[in-house]
Amino acid sequence: MCGIVGHIGPKDSVDIVLEGLRRLEYRGYDSAGVSFIDESNNLQIFKKSGKLDNLKSTLEGKDYTARMCIGHTRWATHGEVNDTNSHPHMKDHISIVHNGIIENAASLRKELAAGGYEFQSDTDSEVFLSLLTRELASGKSFKQAMLDSFSLVEGNSAFVVLNQDVLEIMAIKKGAPLVCGINEIDSEAFVSSDPYALAGMASQLYFPADNVLCHLSAKNKNLINFYDDKGEPTDKYMSKKQDMSVGPTDKGDFEHFMLKEIHEQPELIRSLTQFYFHGEGLESLKKAGSFKPSKFHMTACGTAYYAGLLIRDFLETYNKIPCAPELASEFRYRNPLLIEGESGLFISQSGETADTLAAQELCTESKLKTLSIVNVDGSTLFRNCDNNLLIRAGIEIGVASTKAFTQQVLTGRLLSLALSDELSEESKRVKLTSKFSLLAEKIDHLISRSKEIKDIAESVYNHKGFFYTGRGIYYPVALEGALKLKEIAYVHAEGYAAGELKHGPIAMIDEDMVNVALVGPELFEKTVSNIQEIKARKGVILTIGPKDHEELEELSDYYFGIDFDGLEELSPIYINIVNQLLAYYIAKYKGTDIDKPRNLAKSVTVE
Ligand code: F6R
Repeated sequence: MCGIVGHIGPKDSVDIVLEGLRRLEYRGYDSAGVSFIDESNNLQIFKKSGKLDNLKSTLEGKDYTARMCIGHTRWATHGEVNDTNSHPHMKDHISIVHNGIIENAASLRKELAAGGYEFQSDTDSEVFLSLLTRELASGKSFKQAMLDSFSLVEGNSAFVVLNQDVLEIMAIKKGAPLVCGINEIDSEAFVSSDPYALAGMASQLYFPADNVLCHLSAKNKNLINFYDDKGEPTDKYMSKKQDMSVGPTDKGDFEHFMLKEIHEQPELIRSLTQFYFHGEGLESLKKAGSFKPSKFHMTACGTAYYAGLLIRDFLETYNKIPCAPELASEFRYRNPLLIEGESGLFISQSGETADTLAAQELCTESKLKTLSIVNVDGSTLFRNCDNNLLIRAGIEIGVASTKAFTQQVLTGRLLSLALSDELSEESKRVKLTSKFSLLAEKIDHLISRSKEIKDIAESVYNHKGFFYTGRGIYYPVALEGALKLKEIAYVHAEGYAAGELKHGPIAMIDEDMVNVALVGPELFEKTVSNIQEIKARKGVILTIGPKDHEELEELSDYYFGIDFDGLEELSPIYINIVNQLLAYYIAKYKGTDIDKPRNLAKSVTVE
């Protein structure tokens, strides 16, 4: 969610923090801010609502040379989006940035206000600042004040604090991502909510456990020291070489990252089997296949959940292993029946989604083995699971997930191959590799027809609402198609199992409602009957269906025909590429901010 970056060292700290924030901006872009100690030892603060560029404009022409800085990109939780509620928050000689939610903020705020603290903002974050300044004013050391203040806040949070009096940065977290890093050669120390912000800057990373206090100081021999909740030195952190590269973060010739990422899919699909059948991935795939749980509990959020629904179908169809899908945000509040011998399966792009992490924790506590299908190597989910299958999508910058969905589903297909013991059979590997290649080839062709999808988008983008319908294996992509349209075009859209429409929602159908009918070879006749029902009620029919199907074409107001031959269980992925492009072009006609849609963040690290 919010992005945090901090730096101490002889290089220009503000530029380093701004570069880190640039890489994290997709996590939240309601506002951005930095706080630093300038060359005259003054604590400075600059913050601005809106995107990072607004902050950069504010800094233009100012001298911001500094050797110590913290910064923040915000996704608002408490308090509206404005300059005052932006981070950092500052009082006396202290400034703080925060990611997470202080659940007991209301009661603490009352108590602190009664004690004379005058709140400047509406944020829960300022409560921590207030606690900290109170503890420091009582004569406690920075370290003790941090620990004591942190012990009073409830909920999942990470705080990074800059103290002008001692020229140090301290950070602490519980249930929220935090990583520290060092570059020994240049005597620099870093802290961030995401290792990606530190790629190419820190050579060694440290992932602190919950409640571990991280102390960054140029005076420290090792640049960073770690303390437990009693203030004693601790080794409760995981250390790892930084091997992440920044990767290509420009849009190239594309107008948006989302479009670029849609176009990357064929290449990524082709390289996935190479990685798992002939490369480094083979061991993790074998390991995943060697554990045969009596049941999978599949949990995830949003797009990743819809990918999980397709993976559920693979596991039940090919492996006959029951798989119970559950939204991660609901899982732990339902007392799910978790029995030893079963396995938790978690799907995630970021590996930092708070609800998915909580579901994983619950499974581990219940002694279930845990397996992730995840994009970010070294993410919290990756570190916490017993085994991981990387989806190898590369960094996904567009907030709306596209290529990660495709890679998640395909990695799930590889998992089902491994579980069926067919991984060792060359013919089976070759067969699946050809199927993946065929999919990649067809997607290439489909992308070359983007203009046709764009034209359809131009005709329908002003309609009041959209129902995406599909049956069987096409139902999850009906859900995904509707989600994509909602999030980037801000148009009301719902995904429905085609057969369910007549149980209520069909009442909504009129000439201003578009039915995006996803019609693959499976359950063909039944889905066509459902389209007839909508047509009879004057709904606008936009069908994505088999090519050269005259009857269906006649029934539809708009028809995008595709060739499903040879794809079988992978055909939903293929249909979904049309969903992605359709949502993209509708959003483009609507004129929305496609890569950074309003109110969203790429990585949802709060509950
Ligand atoms: C939608 C989207 C979200 C994410 C969801 C889970 O385009 O990106 O619905 O899929 O927030 O995120 P991850 O996969 O990072 O756990």
